[in-house]
Amino acid sequence: MFEMGEGEDAKTLSTVETLSRELAQWGLLRGDLVLALGGGVVGDTAGFAAAVYYRGVDVVQVPTTLLAMVDSAIGGKTGVNLPEGKNLVGAFHQPRGVFVNPTVLATLPDREYRCGLGEIAKYALMGDDFASAHVDALVRRDPAVLAEVIARCVEIKARVVAADELELTGVRAVLNYGHTLAHALETASGHGLMHGEAVAIGLVFAAQLAAVLERVPPDVAARTETLVQSLGLPTYAPPGLRADDLVTIMQRDKKSGGGLTFVLDGPSGIERVDDPDPDAVRKALAAIRVEA
Ligand SMILES: NC(=O)c1ccc[n+]([C@@H]2O[C@H](COP(=O)([O-])OP(=O)(O)OC[C@H]3O[C@@H](n4cnc5c(N)ncnc54)[C@H](O)[C@@H]3O)[C@@H](O)[C@H]2O)c1
Ligand SMILES: [Zn+2]
Repeated sequence: MFEMGEGEDAKTLSTVETLSRELAQWGLLRGDLVLALGGGVVGDTAGFAAAVYYRGVDVVQVPTTLLAMVDSAIGGKTGVNLPEGKNLVGAFHQPRGVFVNPTVLATLPDREYRCGLGEIAKYALMGDDFASAHVDALVRRDPAVLAEVIARCVEIKARVVAADELELTGVRAVLNYGHTLAHALETASGHGLMHGEAVAIGLVFAAQLAAVLERVPPDVAARTETLVQSLGLPTYAPPGLRADDLVTIMQRDKKSGGGLTFVLDGPSGIERVDDPDPDAVRKALAAIRVEA
């Protein structure tokens, strides 16, 4: 057993080195495996150590946060942070298996749990909404309902990843639904908003933008807002954020390549949309109460 520190600050090359040295001292063999038990921080760090130790030993992911169960443990992305930025060093390393037991979620702090619900809302809004009918059970952390809902999310993520495992064709970009604005909100709020909360607001924004662009009927925005709100997540931006600042941050987003790129719903489903009408973007930002 190797216990790592907690939080983003522990997701470092230095932790990978310490863990790798432990593996060497234990005499880990090529046929052995690393079992990553914890949230996304543990999964990413241990997964990356497994990806590089002996140029790759097997890893099994045992996620213990809701976010890790539906998102970070699935898809094979592993990695650590540098002082210069998050997730800058990493590798694709698919786990041998992922084992999820929703009963461990009973002890997860409330805010962490709700952040996982933000990602679940994302999957539900990407296809046939399987979450709205189970809102109360989800908020109660009902293990039977969680098992079903988590499995649906895993299926969706696994299907998308299988079609674009190494993020080469752009198919995987649909997993960033709600995330363009979310990343900007996290940055602009000085990380006062947690990732899942920012995703929740980002989903409402994406639906508003799709409605303003007449890609979807207006009731899609209302339905998105209802789902997000009923899961106990925020539906509009916190006060003090300005549209200009958010747009500037979104243009800097490493995945945007300089323009403004969103992932939006539309007649042919969720897809990447480059450089939409700037006035529409402003209108959608105003709809989530961002100051002009
Ligand atoms: N690899 C990917 O594809 C991918 C995708 C999304 C996010 N991520 C990464 O995941 C990380 C975030 O993961 P996270 O949200 O799971 O956060 P986390 O791993 O930091 O866990 C959150 C907190 O919950 C605690 N915890 C974990 N399980 C618990 C339990 N069952 N009961 C009580 N407390 C528990 C942890 O100790 C920690 O304090 C970020 O570093 C992010 O970059 C990776
Ligand atoms: Zn996310």
